[in-house]
Amino acid sequence: MSCCRGSLVYHSIIHSTVQSSRRSLSSSVCKFPPFPTSSSSPTLRRSLAFVSSMPVPMSKPEVTAEVGGQRNVDKLLAISRDFRSDTMTIPTDAQLLASLRASRGDDLYSEDEDTAALEARVARLTGKEAALFGVSGTMTNQLAIRTHMKQPPHSVITDYRAHVHKMEAGGIAMFSQATTHQLVPHNGIYLTVEDIEPALVLGEDIHTAPTKLICIENTLSGTIIPQEEVVRIGELARRHDIIMHLDGARIWNVAAKVVEDRVMDPRQEEDLRVALTELCEPFESVSLCLSKGIGAPIGSMLVGSKDFIKRARWFRKAFGGGVRQSGGMAAAADYAITHHFPRLADSHALARRLEQGLSDLGCEILAPVDTSMVFFSPLSIGLTLDSVSARLKSLPVPITMMRERLVLHHQTSPQAVEDFIACVAEMKAEVEDGKGAEVRKEGEQSTSDEKMVVEGKLRKQAVLGY
Ligand SMILES: Cc1ncc(COP(=O)(O)O)c(C=O)c1O
Repeated sequence: MSCCRGSLVYHSIIHSTVQSSRRSLSSSVCKFPPFPTSSSSPTLRRSLAFVSSMPVPMSKPEVTAEVGGQRNVDKLLAISRDFRSDTMTIPTDAQLLASLRASRGDDLYSEDEDTAALEARVARLTGKEAALFGVSGTMTNQLAIRTHMKQPPHSVITDYRAHVHKMEAGGIAMFSQATTHQLVPHNGIYLTVEDIEPALVLGEDIHTAPTKLICIENTLSGTIIPQEEVVRIGELARRHDIIMHLDGARIWNVAAKVVEDRVMDPRQEEDLRVALTELCEPFESVSLCLSKGIGAPIGSMLVGSKDFIKRARWFRKAFGGGVRQSGGMAAAADYAITHHFPRLADSHALARRLEQGLSDLGCEILAPVDTSMVFFSPLSIGLTLDSVSARLKSLPVPITMMRERLVLHHQTSPQAVEDFIACVAEMKAEVEDGKGAEVRKEGEQSTSDEKMVVEGKLRKQAVLGY
């Protein structure tokens, strides 16, 4: 990475990896169902021995056969080894019991206590006047943009990889009749004032669509935009009367990092409030997903001023997103904030462990690992993503991955991370011994890998942001 901050973060993370991953492994090892320990692979056996030598605290499994049924016990094991997305979590027994006990009023009549309580809690945590429960992050982002954008012609500035324009089915054009200006950050990681200022469309030239909104995503592909830069962008926006929206689908991960770096306590509501309020301060509105790393089964919050939320509530109805008895969803989300947010630091430590393991083996790491995502390429050690994926799938207890992006969450098992690294190590050894029968050599890549080689750096950048 060309940017100083990126490489600094990067190196300090590498140095702290082993210690923090040991801490994290020991704190969460017992949440998962028993794991079959027979393996013919010496590397795998070594890694299993490593994990089983960790101190094992006694804690109740999150899903039991008595409450959740055996298929959900099995599902927990499967998703604890699934690196496709941080949406690959499952509700725990305790979380669903909280839903069972939730209020059952009609939220469209403003009669559901637990939905109102969740909205009040998130408004307070983010330092905003009001909040609105929505069913998805796409909905709360698009609601925010639609609510802010009053009358075309107008335009929105985003990072070229931003979810709001790249992955929300063209919603900005569809709902808000706005043009997007997608910028490529010069530092290769995050947008700065120097990227945004020259791209602002100001004035009354009738050929143009003036900039009304700047939308920032934090984290973007797991990387954190430094808060000083967010503040600078906010000042620029204010000077030109431009609104700031944050796609904070994973702002919980940033808050977890702030809490950890300042040695605050993630279990303390007040510490979370201080971190989130600071992160959200430069924005008129923020969307915070509940169903990503913190593992609510559904939902996303939109926060902002009272007037803004009042109008967004109107649009939510028009979008078909008004939910009647939403108390069960709100209670599960509330549970996730209380019980799962404090575990995000553990998943960050596991991500660093995975990054270190893969980079020690010679894999290329494509982006700084600030939080819970690792982007990697095994081509440098003679392996293709498809071959790694296929071998992981064939393990006695399969591991699932998708493309270059590996995502960890509060239910990712430390053992899955060790098995992942051990499996790549084994494949690498086979290539070095000339025994890698199923490993495709350079020039024989599958379509997706071929594409990656052909498009080189451009492809590397483009994969960040899905
Ligand atoms: C950064 C970001 N924003 C918004 C969303 C949309 O969330 P949802 O899938 O709940 O619509 C996602 C989904 O992955 C995302 O990654």
